[in-house]
Amino acid sequence: MVKKILFVCLGNICRSPAAEGIFKQKIKDRDLENFFVVDSAGTGSWHVGNLADPRMRETAHVRGIELNSRSRQIEENDLYEFDHILVMDKDNLHAVKSLIKDHLHPVNSKIKLILSYSEKSDLEEVPDPYYGGQNGFDKVLDLLNDAIDGLIDSLID
Ligand code: 4NP
Repeated sequence: MVKKILFVCLGNICRSPAAEGIFKQKIKDRDLENFFVVDSAGTGSWHVGNLADPRMRETAHVRGIELNSRSRQIEENDLYEFDHILVMDKDNLHAVKSLIKDHLHPVNSKIKLILSYSEKSDLEEVPDPYYGGQNGFDKVLDLLNDAIDGLIDSLID
């Protein structure tokens, strides 16, 4: 059965588009594309309609990952539409959980910090690279690369 995966950050122009791009590249490489639907969204609306930040796109491109998504804001329906929602930090976690209005249909269990799937890093959150330098964008890709391997392994078990 197809599993629907949603990555979430604040602006949906840096971390979550990178996670979406890495996930798509990995399932393509592993010939698993037919088993997944993948998307990303932001908790904020400032960048809706925009491509990912040029710095994030270029850093991913150098590693052979193309980021083509357009920013959109997460909505309550996404919590019921997607099977797994992976957030970048605890602020995102709180913001996503605060969208839950229908407490008759609990969805808490499928909302997780993406780095809970990381085997190499002790960090709990993917640091926001937006106001920093190039190192921050490389760090985002390093952290996500490792965590998404763990995520895919857990999903195909
Ligand atoms: P993201 O990064 O949440 O990884 O997409 C950010 C992008 C934009 C802003 C903050 C974080 N901003 O304040 O506009």
